[in-house]
Amino acid sequence: MRLSTLLNSPIGKKLITGITGLGLTFFVLMHMVGNLSMFSGDDAYNEYAHFLASLGPLLYAVEAGLVLFFLAHAVNGFKIWIGKRKARPQAYAVYKSAGGPSMQSSSSRSMIITGIILLVFLVFHLISFKFGPGGPGNADASYLTTVNGVEMRDLARLVREKFALSWYTFGYTAIMLLLVAHLRHGVWSALQSLGAMRPSLSALIHTIGGLLGLGIGLGFIVMPLAIYFGLI
Ligand code: HEM
Repeated sequence: MRLSTLLNSPIGKKLITGITGLGLTFFVLMHMVGNLSMFSGDDAYNEYAHFLASLGPLLYAVEAGLVLFFLAHAVNGFKIWIGKRKARPQAYAVYKSAGGPSMQSSSSRSMIITGIILLVFLVFHLISFKFGPGGPGNADASYLTTVNGVEMRDLARLVREKFALSWYTFGYTAIMLLLVAHLRHGVWSALQSLGAMRPSLSALIHTIGGLLGLGIGLGFIVMPLAIYFGLI
């Protein structure tokens, strides 16, 4: 079978969504762990962000890969959703989980909705933080700081300012709960598409996917809440 035919087949689309989804899960896990450095103080957080920025071409390569992964994931996820709608144009009058190996749950049916909200969040998120004051194309001397004699962006200041606001903090918390729902079904579904499990392992992998999603979501939520409530 030609590669283009495979990639456009239903299995090909599931494979692309699965592989890119696992790659993005790895990214959000790393991002969440990096964010926790705020608990070691503003200097540690700024030094961490500065270290990433200092990677230069390597960081650009990772960022380009991320954009490709996000696009391929979203486009193929959308195609899968369209394909399912074509196969069953009428919605179920009463939706009941098939249980067992189908692992249908509220998050599996809402993947398209949580996915779209997360994509819109991502654009908003990049505008506020990455391209916010002191970021690329947005020079602002008041968002510079010096740590151990090295001048760098004061990202911690921006993070503190944002999470002093109620709507920002609780909006982020709500979005992170949607991320939990998306990952909960996504990780399981990706591993299933990649044939990485036997039916007997299905329930176990579903639990692992759920715990991973929950861990990442909660890991993201603690830092904004800790800032908002003045704990750090
Ligand atoms: C509480 C939750 C989060 C906080 C506080 C947070 C914070 C940040 C900050 C401060 C940056 C700028 C980093 C820099 O310019 O060096 C950033 C970048 C980024 N964030 Fe988040 N983030 C959160 C959740 C997420 C989630 C859930 C996603 C994905 C769905 C995400 C995706 C990204 C991406 C793609 C970048 C750009 C990375 C790069 O280009 O190097 N973030 N985040």
